[in-house]
Amino acid sequence: MCGGACPRRTRRARAEMREVQWAAVAFLLSAFLLTWQAAGQANAPEVPGEAGGWRQGRATFYGGPESFLQNFNDRGPAPEYGFGSAVYGSCGYTQQNFTEGVTYDNVPYPKDMLMAVANVDADYPGSCGRCYEVRCHSGYVFSNGTQIYNTTQGYSLPAHAPNATDDLGRTWLGNPTADQQLQSVRCWDDNASIFVVVTDNCPCIQTDVNTGAVSGVNPPCCGDIYHMDLTYWGFEKLAHPLNGIMSTQFRPVDCTSKQPLNFNPGFVNQTIYGDKVETGWGWFPYKQNTVTFWSQGYGVGGSNATCISLGPEKAGGLTIACRECSQSGYQPFKGASALEFWIRDQNGSSTIPDVQVGLGDYDKKQYCASVKTGSLSPVERQGLYAKFSVPISSFACPFPQEQISQVSFQNSAGQLVSFCLDSIQIVGGSGRVSSSSIGRHRI
Ligand SMILES: *[C@@H]1O[C@H](CO)[C@@H](O)[C@H](O)[C@H]1NC(C)=O
Ligand SMILES: *[C@@H]1O[C@H](CO)[C@@H](O)[C@H](O)[C@H]1NC(C)=O
Ligand SMILES: *[C@@H]1O[C@H](CO)[C@@H](O)[C@H](O)[C@H]1NC(C)=O
Ligand SMILES: *[C@@H]1O[C@H](CO)[C@@H](O)[C@H](O)[C@H]1NC(C)=O
Ligand SMILES: *[C@@H]1O[C@H](CO)[C@@H](O)[C@H](O)[C@H]1NC(C)=O
Ligand SMILES: *[C@@H]1O[C@H](CO)[C@@H](O)[C@H](O)[C@H]1NC(C)=O
Ligand SMILES: *[C@@H]1O[C@H](CO)[C@@H](O)[C@H](O)[C@H]1NC(C)=O
Ligand SMILES: *[C@@H]1O[C@H](CO)[C@@H](O)[C@H](O)[C@H]1NC(C)=O
Repeated sequence: MCGGACPRRTRRARAEMREVQWAAVAFLLSAFLLTWQAAGQANAPEVPGEAGGWRQGRATFYGGPESFLQNFNDRGPAPEYGFGSAVYGSCGYTQQNFTEGVTYDNVPYPKDMLMAVANVDADYPGSCGRCYEVRCHSGYVFSNGTQIYNTTQGYSLPAHAPNATDDLGRTWLGNPTADQQLQSVRCWDDNASIFVVVTDNCPCIQTDVNTGAVSGVNPPCCGDIYHMDLTYWGFEKLAHPLNGIMSTQFRPVDCTSKQPLNFNPGFVNQTIYGDKVETGWGWFPYKQNTVTFWSQGYGVGGSNATCISLGPEKAGGLTIACRECSQSGYQPFKGASALEFWIRDQNGSSTIPDVQVGLGDYDKKQYCASVKTGSLSPVERQGLYAKFSVPISSFACPFPQEQISQVSFQNSAGQLVSFCLDSIQIVGGSGRVSSSSIGRHRI
C-alpha cells in the first residue's frame, strides 16, 4: 500500500493492488466531474479548475514518527516500517556533508510541507519547489477514475491498529462505508488547508537507482487521478493517518503570496535562485565539502545565498535543474539572451572565485561548453560580490537552446574553492514569462 509509503528510490517492492468492479460508482463519478468542470469555467477563467483554481486529487503519505509506525511492524523493519522517508527527495534539497547521516533537520522546509508529486501528473515538469494548497475532501476515495478503493486493497491500516492515535493524540473517525468494503475518508475539516512544496516525485513503476531493475509499483501514482504523496505530518493535519489515503482538493500557488497559479503548464520561475531555489528548480550539490541551500546574510545586500565548498581532492559542484522542462510550455531558456548571477568568496576574500559555469539538458544528460568566471569581466561589483552576465551563445550548446534545463557551477580537479551564489537569473527567456496568478502579479 501507499498510504504509508509510495516507495521511491530504493524502497522495497510492493504488491500490485487489485482493481474493483463497481459500475454504479462510475456513473456517480462522471456526474461529479461534469459538475466540477462546469463550475470551473464559470468561476475562474484565469486559473481553470474549480473556483479559485481548485482541482480534485488524491493523497497518500510517507514517513512518520516511529511511535505511530511501529503499530505496523509486519510491513517492514524499524524505523520506517515500510512507510519510507522523505529526508532524501528527487529534487535534491537535502543539505549534507556526506560524513554524517541526514535527518529532517537537513531538509530546508518543515517536514509537514514536504511532498512527492506523481510523475504522470499533468504539471509534473518543472515541479521541484512548486507550492500547492491542499485540503481534504470527505467521502469516497477513488482508486481509478471510475472505481472506489476496496478497504482490502492495501489501505487497511485500521485493521492493524484501530485505536492508534496521531501526534496530537486523536483517534480515527472511522470509515462510514466500511461495511460495504468501500474506502471513505472523514476529514477533520473539509475547509482546512495546508501548504506544501514539491521536494520529491512518485514514479508509477519503481526502479532500482543502481541497477535500473524494476523494484516495485506505486499504483496510486499511475495516473488515474492527480496524486500527491504528503508526509505523515502534512496528512495528519487534514485527516487521521489511519485513513492511509484521502481525496483532496488542491491548487498550485505562489509560494510567497499564496495566490493561485496556472495549473498546466505549471509555473517555472525565470529567477533560478532568489532568496532560495525558486519554483521549478531542483538543487543537486555533488562531491562537496559543505553546502547550504540558503545561508542567511550571505547574499547580495544581506539576503540569502546558496554556498558551497569544493575540493581540493575531488572535482564537484552544484547543479540547479528543471526536470522534464525541454517540452513546450516550459523551456525556461527559450529565447534567453544571457545567464546572470552574483558570486562571492565564502571565506570573506575579495578575490572573485574562479569556477566553471555550465549549461545542459538535465533529462538527456547533454552538456554545453563551460565558461570560467576567471575568463570573464564582472558587469558589476557590490561588496565581496561580483555580478556576471554570460551570453547564452558563449556556452556553444550542441542542441537547441530551448532544451537547456540546468545550470551548474563546478571546481576543477585540485582546486579548493568556497563560494556563494545569489540572484541566478535567466535574462530575456520567453519560455515561461508569466505566472498567470490571480491577484498579485510578480516578477
Ligand atoms: C479503471 O479500471 C477499469 C477496470 O479495471 C478499466 O477498464 C479502466 O480502464 C480503468 N480506468 C482508468 C482511468 O484507469
Ligand atoms: C473487496 O475485496 C474483497 C477481497 O478481494 C472482495 O471479496 C470483495 O467483494 C470486494 N468488495 C467490493 C465492494 O468490491
Ligand atoms: C480499541 O478501543 C475499543 C474501545 O475502547 C476497544 O473495545 C478495542 O478492544 C480496542 N481495539 C484494540 C485493537 O485495541
Ligand atoms: C466551509 O466553507 C463553506 C463556504 O465558506 C461554508 O459554507 C461551510 O459551512 C464550511 N464548512 C465547515 C465545516 O466549516
Ligand atoms: C520568482 O522569483 C522571484 C525572485 O526571487 C520572486 O520574487 C517571485 O516571488 C517568484 N515568483 C513566483 C511565482 O514564485
Ligand atoms: C560534517 O558534519 C560533521 C558532523 O556534524 C562535522 O563534524 C564535520 O565537521 C562536517 N564536515 C564539514 C566538512 O563541514
Ligand atoms: C533565508 O534563509 C533562511 C534560513 O537560513 C530561511 O529561514 C528563510 O526563509 C530564507 N528567506 C527567504 C526569503 O526565503
Ligand atoms: C575557508 O576557510 C576555512 C576555515 O578557515 C578553510 O579551512 C578553507 O580552506 C578555506 N577555503 C578556501 C577556499 O579558502
